[in-house]
Amino acid sequence: MKSTIDNTVEFVKEKLEGAEAGHDWFHIERVWKLAKKIAETENCNQEVVELSALLHDIADPKFHNGDETIAPKISRAFLEQQNVPDETIEKVLYVIENISFKNRGNAPIEPSLELQIVQDADRIDAIGAIGIARTFNFGGFKNNPMYDPAIEPNLGMSKEEYKKSNGTTINHFYEKLLLLKDLMNTEKGKKMAEERHNYMLNFLDEFYKEWNVD
Ligand code: ADP
Ligand code: NI
Repeated sequence: MKSTIDNTVEFVKEKLEGAEAGHDWFHIERVWKLAKKIAETENCNQEVVELSALLHDIADPKFHNGDETIAPKISRAFLEQQNVPDETIEKVLYVIENISFKNRGNAPIEPSLELQIVQDADRIDAIGAIGIARTFNFGGFKNNPMYDPAIEPNLGMSKEEYKKSNGTTINHFYEKLLLLKDLMNTEKGKKMAEERHNYMLNFLDEFYKEWNVD
């Protein structure tokens, strides 16, 4: 018999068919694996971690006119149909509703351990070589400029400004990616973020060197 996790994998793969490459099934698969790795080091609810990792981008508001209610609705309906106990469903929805970087201003004061783990996994996939690739893919998808030396990064953006931002892709490194290392929740997450962070710093050095042809 197929497990709930197997059914969730199948459901998510189907839902994300044709998604932008930075938010597709492969992003979910990486976050799922990273979350399992971090979960090994923590005394957490493994099922909640896995289900939340699998469902966390099922309907990203970025691709649904900013609507943040779709993902929890779809997830609840799916989990109920799978006969997942209510208590587990509530824990998974809590992770999905609180994971986002742009909502960090309203983050829970005492986040559940499962939220901390899946958020770290999602943030690790936002940095390093994969993070760079995803960010340029998203910038291309939005037709944003890669870089414009005249446009400064905007560090104090409100949630609404962040969502609407048509800044450059290089600025996104300063507005988000380089901040993530210090926002990691778990010890394992912090360690994993370090190497990827340094890789991005090297990338930026090279980028400016090559940009400034002399
Ligand atoms: P969350 O989904 O946690 O709120 P974001 O909305 O910042 O996080 O987006 C997740 C990923 O999408 C980022 O890590 C990045 O790769 C890409 N992305 C989001 N906004 C931008 C942007 N303005 N320019 C380039 N990439 C972006
Ligand atoms: Ni994600």
